[in-house]
Amino acid sequence: MDTLSVWRGTAAPTGYAMLSGDVTCDVLIIGGGITGVTLADLLAEQKTANPPRVVLLEADEIGTGTTGNSTGNLYETLSSGLRQVADKWGAEVARQVVSERRTAVNFIEERCRLLPDVGFRRCDLVEWADAAHNEAIRQEFNALTAAGCAVERGSSIPAPLPPAEGEVLVLRNQAQFQPQAYVVALARRAAEAGCTIHEHSRVLEIDHKAKRAVTASGSVTARDIVMATHSPKGVHLVHTEMPVHREYALALEWTPDAPPGPGTFWWKATEHLSIRRLQAGNRHFLICAGQEHKVGVHNATAGMIALENLAKKYFGERPVTHRWSAQNYRGADALPYIGRNHSGCFIATGFGTDGLTWGTVAARLIAAELLGHKSAFADLVKPGRLSPVKGGKSILEENVLVVKQLVKDYLTRPQNEKLAALKAGDSAIVDAEGETFAAYRAPDGELFAVSPVCTHVGCKVHWNSVETSWDCPCHGSRFRPDGTVIEGPALSPLKRKHTPDLAQGDPAA
Ligand SMILES: Cc1cc2nc3c(=O)[nH]c(=O)nc-3n(C[C@H](O)[C@H](O)[C@H](O)COP(=O)(O)OP(=O)(O)OC[C@H]3O[C@@H](n4cnc5c(N)ncnc54)[C@H](O)[C@@H]3O)c2cc1C
Ligand code: FES
Repeated sequence: MDTLSVWRGTAAPTGYAMLSGDVTCDVLIIGGGITGVTLADLLAEQKTANPPRVVLLEADEIGTGTTGNSTGNLYETLSSGLRQVADKWGAEVARQVVSERRTAVNFIEERCRLLPDVGFRRCDLVEWADAAHNEAIRQEFNALTAAGCAVERGSSIPAPLPPAEGEVLVLRNQAQFQPQAYVVALARRAAEAGCTIHEHSRVLEIDHKAKRAVTASGSVTARDIVMATHSPKGVHLVHTEMPVHREYALALEWTPDAPPGPGTFWWKATEHLSIRRLQAGNRHFLICAGQEHKVGVHNATAGMIALENLAKKYFGERPVTHRWSAQNYRGADALPYIGRNHSGCFIATGFGTDGLTWGTVAARLIAAELLGHKSAFADLVKPGRLSPVKGGKSILEENVLVVKQLVKDYLTRPQNEKLAALKAGDSAIVDAEGETFAAYRAPDGELFAVSPVCTHVGCKVHWNSVETSWDCPCHGSRFRPDGTVIEGPALSPLKRKHTPDLAQGDPAA
């Protein structure tokens, strides 16, 4: 299935050279999503006598991680509910969260004034539910009011959006933009101010002591390393604290004057949907996202079909122009993890589905620390905070799940299938000649066989039929059929395997 997002399909391309040779700098940023690019821009604009020399390495192209696969909404609240922060940390911390996030949205608005049009606009955020979930909307209204948000009660929801069976919450003066266009334009601004950007430069190894990151074509040694990679690379304590989920999205061809009007719409019924519009040139789209599930556990195709059916139910038989999906990592105690951790590197993760704003908060906090200032909010979100009272239950649940997954996978027998019998487009975990293979035969007949053991800490990978990838249920690493890393904490590829099939002249040999 083609899984190019509507953002990536409608934004300008980039074109930075691959890293070549060994270089040194003051700050190395690994990752060209909103976190890495915003940090690059903030550091590059320093006009001091000795501005930091900054290098940004991106494994693929700017924005092609989660940023270019999000839904492009900017808001001061949290999609899983501000009341979670208020319940775990108290009203004062909820107020601080809103204030930091509001400042970050204002910062994005200011940056957008300096960039070519990236679709920034102010709009309301509307939340509603079915009768069964009305109480949650009511509690959220109270949490937002207590945190000083401009929230009001709405009267109804315009068709064709799913109807409200209770209260409607309207949060004024939130925003939207085109996330891919934003990071591409911001990266260009950072590069023009002196930041060196390399694309197609995946970091394969990090020597934390020597502060050196190695790619296939060179290395960067830096005074400070920032892992703006969504999930930090390698083994970190935070991986044991964060549940990882994937969510699906699609864009429907839409008509200019059809409702809904501008706004971010969150339907929080038994089924969840996040809905918004997009205008790109003279084309109009309606974007729907939903069907969140744990990575590597459910059938991905079923998730995408369920989302399409839901969209069809409310919005009719409109052509689906784009389908995509993306991953989120949630902090166990409802806050992200931002700052220097035990490895000596900076990390920025645990954003849930609120990371366009959290990523901007993270970039601002890390830039401030690198430039010698530290805010009180940085202490609240520091990675080593480990708050067992606040996050304990969900940390425990997450680790029980990981252990269960490990045990289940090692006890589950592989499919009794022959590698040679694998049809085009099929995948299977196969036992052959005393070895286990994660095998996939591409539509053109090429057979890919890799080890099913995730190179992060050894869970077994599962097939993702929508994105043609091997996904790890433990901490969310994902791999292409040839074993190369797509995302997640793993640094090394799945081991390529020689199979009896390959020995007989298969083109993948
Ligand atoms: C379906 C969905 C919808 C969402 N919608 C919203 C929304 O509307 N609003 C919102 O605020 N948040 C949203 N989010 C969350 C948000 O998109 C993310 O939290 C945010 O984009 C994370 O940005 P980032 O820069 O930290 O990570 P990313 O954008 O993932 O960037 C990380 C980059 O690091 C690169 N990288 C990884 N490994 C390496 C390596 N070894 N070497 C070099 N580079 C590497 C990757 O290629 C990638 O480009 C959504 C999330 C999902 C799943
Ligand atoms: S992502 Fe941690 S074991 Fe696979």
